Amino acid sequence: MSELSAPGAQTLDAILTAYGHSPTQLVQILREVQGAQHHIPPAAQAHIASALGLPIGQVQAVVAFYAFFHEQPMGRYRVLFSDNITDRMLGSQALFEHMLGRLKLRADEVSADGAVSVGLASCTGMCDQGPAMLVNNRAITRLTPRRVDEICELIRSAVPLADWPSYYFKVEDNIRRADVLLGAQWVPGEALRAAIARGPTGLLSEMKVSNLRGRGGAGFTTAVKWEAARVAEGSARYVVCNADEGEPGTFKDRVLLQSFAGHVFEGMTIAAYAIGAQRGFLYLRGEYTYLLPALQAHLAGLRHSRLLGASICGVPGFDFDIEIHVGAGAYVCGEETALIESLEGKPGRPRIRPPFPVTHGYLGQPTVVNNVETLCKVLEIATHGGAHYAGLGTKQSTGTKILSVAGDVERPGLYEYPFGVRINQVLEDCGARNPQAVQISGAAGMCLSAREFGRRISFEDVPTAGSFMVFGPQRDMFEVARNFAHFFAHESCGFCTPCRVGTTVVANIMDKIANGHGTQYEMNELGHLADVIKGSAHCGLGTAACNAVVETVEKFRPAYEQRLKRMDFEPAFDLDAALAPTRALSGRDDAGAHLAQDMEPH
Ligand SMILES: Cc1cc2nc3c(=O)[nH]c(=O)nc-3n(C[C@H](O)[C@H](O)[C@H](O)COP(=O)(O)O)c2cc1C
Ligand code: SF4
Repeated sequence: MSELSAPGAQTLDAILTAYGHSPTQLVQILREVQGAQHHIPPAAQAHIASALGLPIGQVQAVVAFYAFFHEQPMGRYRVLFSDNITDRMLGSQALFEHMLGRLKLRADEVSADGAVSVGLASCTGMCDQGPAMLVNNRAITRLTPRRVDEICELIRSAVPLADWPSYYFKVEDNIRRADVLLGAQWVPGEALRAAIARGPTGLLSEMKVSNLRGRGGAGFTTAVKWEAARVAEGSARYVVCNADEGEPGTFKDRVLLQSFAGHVFEGMTIAAYAIGAQRGFLYLRGEYTYLLPALQAHLAGLRHSRLLGASICGVPGFDFDIEIHVGAGAYVCGEETALIESLEGKPGRPRIRPPFPVTHGYLGQPTVVNNVETLCKVLEIATHGGAHYAGLGTKQSTGTKILSVAGDVERPGLYEYPFGVRINQVLEDCGARNPQAVQISGAAGMCLSAREFGRRISFEDVPTAGSFMVFGPQRDMFEVARNFAHFFAHESCGFCTPCRVGTTVVANIMDKIANGHGTQYEMNELGHLADVIKGSAHCGLGTAACNAVVETVEKFRPAYEQRLKRMDFEPAFDLDAALAPTRALSGRDDAGAHLAQDMEPH
């Protein structure tokens, strides 16, 4: 292992000092090192391990786990194109190839001068303004060939990112329909004071009456979670805001964090008041690092106004503060126990449950994890009471839901509706023309065909964490499912074999079908693998990984069948095609120089 240079060691020591030499800050420390040095070489890992008193294996495991960490240099400009299906529908693949061509690079290759590398990332959460890319974790949206050319020129001329045109980095909110959350007047501290006036138990009663359910996907009743954490035994309690928002097609939390950060932090503070927590974390996905300075400034303002810190609002003993942790490109870290592992400075692998975070969460203490939108909703309940809140929506799905609408629509963006809205209504409002399908709740969600557009967004019918991707009649639903299959193969954390191996095999089978080598055998295998993975996966990623494949096979079967070459079996490897260069060399291309094409039994 090569030695660290003196400036390298100084940079590391400054970063370690800024994070208090705390092992729980390992992901943050590595993120800073990656940013400063464009990679985290083995010598730096050893230095960090020794400074934090950690086994070197733990630091190596964390570096290996997160997509944004690299042991080898990745280019001073690290370009990543968002590879969600909606970016592809907007032409991202052609732009990716265009950029590689302009820079004379292959995917993920580092240029000879070490200046640049270009690769792909899972959905970057900019689906309403794609195609999008990240450059050193800064999002650039609405890419065109011309903008890609300009970016190549800036890179060639080594212009620092800070000097690139500021309009490149503009991220729009695109709020198209506002209801009680996105449209309400908000006075900082008002909801918090209302919560304090109710007292922790009074507030919890209102939360119960409201029947607020989590907006992160599972729809768990928030009051039950808070109550459990409040009564659990522990020496400290924690509130965690899950801002990992990695589900393809979802971007509502991005807008809430960008334009409603006060709501988010106040919701966390109210949760802390209810359960008796003194420390909170906002876990921000790495793709949203651009929001960090504004969020930090917002927290400083809250401390200044005594809405955070010691004796909040003048209440003795009500002490609470919030730290922001930034993720490093792992979708699975949105799963609450994986998120807690990451907060503790470890690879983000889901824990075995029970015990649940409400009793054994961060550092083994009672912890409430809530989605960004859930925490924003708390303000309405604290201010107006639970019954008022429950007056909107349906019986089991009270209040409103924010949808992130993207794909083949005229007006992509955020739409807030009372729960119970029909899919048809949303499609009409966003300007979808003759859609054939809507993928609800992301790659892990449900694929609805036109016959099902009368169904309602609600926990009773079509539950969703927020993603609403629309596919017009020209779209190939097989390719949609193939994109999602690759997403899961890429994001599987590898902890359990059926998910680690199975998601890759599913993606390979989808490629085999796409390449014209699919048969009924592969169709059967897809169904078989989906059952195995779903039945044995340790966490929700694996459980949901084959949903899109299974549903598109069921509802859009012709998209698969038209690609099937034959009905028995066809090897994925095409030996005849592989022999083409040899035939060219020997100058023979007659029938006898080819392998038999028709091997069907006669
Ligand atoms: C693979 C996976 C990814 C997830 N990603 C997120 C996420 O990005 N944001 C989120 O709030 N919940 C996510 N969840 C759900 C969380 O585990 C958890 O249920 C949620 O944060 C609880 O908050 P809520 O009760 O307010 O919904 C994910 C779950 C799984 C299995
Ligand atoms: S199901 Fe997949 S993502 Fe979840 S723990 Fe197992 S390997 Fe990891």
